[in-house]
Amino acid sequence: MSNIVIVGTQWGDEGKGKIVDLLAEFANAVVRFQGGNNAGHTMVVNGEQFISHLVPSGILQKKTCFIGNGVVVDPAVLVEELDYLTEKGTAAGPDNLKISERAHIIMPYHKQVDHAREKMKGDKKIGTTGRGIGPAYEDKATRRGIRFVELLDPEVFSERVKTILEEKNFYLKNYLSSETLDAEAIIDEYKKYGERLAPHVTNISVTLQETLKAGGQILFEGAQGTHLDIDHGTYPYVTSSNTVSGNACAGAGVGPKDITEVIGIVKAYTTRVGAGPFPSELFDDIGNKIQEKGAEFGATTGRRRRCGWLDTVILNNAVRLNGLTGMAVTKLDVLGGLESLNICTGYEYEGEILHNFPASLNVLGACKPIYETLPGWSEDISNVRKKEDLPYNTRKYLSRIEEITEIPIYIISVGPGRDETIIVT
Ligand code: GTP
Repeated sequence: MSNIVIVGTQWGDEGKGKIVDLLAEFANAVVRFQGGNNAGHTMVVNGEQFISHLVPSGILQKKTCFIGNGVVVDPAVLVEELDYLTEKGTAAGPDNLKISERAHIIMPYHKQVDHAREKMKGDKKIGTTGRGIGPAYEDKATRRGIRFVELLDPEVFSERVKTILEEKNFYLKNYLSSETLDAEAIIDEYKKYGERLAPHVTNISVTLQETLKAGGQILFEGAQGTHLDIDHGTYPYVTSSNTVSGNACAGAGVGPKDITEVIGIVKAYTTRVGAGPFPSELFDDIGNKIQEKGAEFGATTGRRRRCGWLDTVILNNAVRLNGLTGMAVTKLDVLGGLESLNICTGYEYEGEILHNFPASLNVLGACKPIYETLPGWSEDISNVRKKEDLPYNTRKYLSRIEEITEIPIYIISVGPGRDETIIVT
């Protein structure tokens, strides 16, 4: 174990939660570095399911968890999640859950703006989760954001809310035909969150440095996926933050030399929520089968995920953008029972073959996948715990992924449970 960044290689929902939970056993600290409560990690321990949206998955391994400065935090959701964890017997107190004083806060007007804008767009929706994440990042970039450090100073907080709300209410009323908000009500509500969360708030960059100096190991937990990255993803059908591994440094307050490994989570097939081009999408019975067997519904929104074959153009893009050193392949069990499997190895675009993921959505939308077909397997692999015990065709599928990406597979997941895992030695 070293200092590892975990990232999704596709469009999110690769099963990062399970892998982070698994690797957290060997870490001293687990850090979320971007996104907000638009992420939904699902972990299954001893048959019991836990869903977390903000608290890092490492909390179940009783590790110190950190919410980095790169995360935007809805304090109401965080408080709810802390109560949920306590109810489930996994208390997250100030000693094991620390929040960066520089993390930005999601305010009620962020959610209001998000909803009102999405409503106005009609059928041109981006597919946001409506949780105010995008508007909160917008305010961060335009220097109108409010951070935890301001929340904890009631005078500063109340003045900032009043000033910002004047502009927000004008915008809500005149541009979005939406209801306006009351400053005092917000100040009162957020005062309670401030009091409750204050013991958790600290300079996490300093704490993480101390952990490293003491020889501790850190796991950086990415949310969403590489192709939802605001710079490198399928813009504008992306999330509002950088999801690539490089942002682990900026979003947690550590330097690049402290990162030793980058593990990309690869779902054995591809899924995507919401709109946007998806070259290897399946519109037939096989797609429906994968969707059903893989229970491909969003943990946060309940939305049905679009399903398709594994796309290695996407994977190779993720290899390069994140500097992957290894991969964890998840949901391999879902592909069992299919006669043959396709792997997309390139795109055909206007008579040319593309191997690099195009920036233009018009080009991507017109790309036809080029497939390589491999034989499937019919065996149930969920009880397999050693790579050599996997059916021959399953191993062939995995080794083809390694050949195409030139990256080794460290972990193979054959079911949602913590134990349904093969560690490749
Ligand atoms: P985001 O950060 O929102 O992208 O979420 P995520 O990458 O953590 O994915 P999430 O945990 O929401 O979704 C993965 C789903 O697949 C969960 O329900 C997991 O319990 C489940 N899962 C994870 N690994 C496996 C696996 O190997 N096989 C099966 N059948 N299910 C799995």
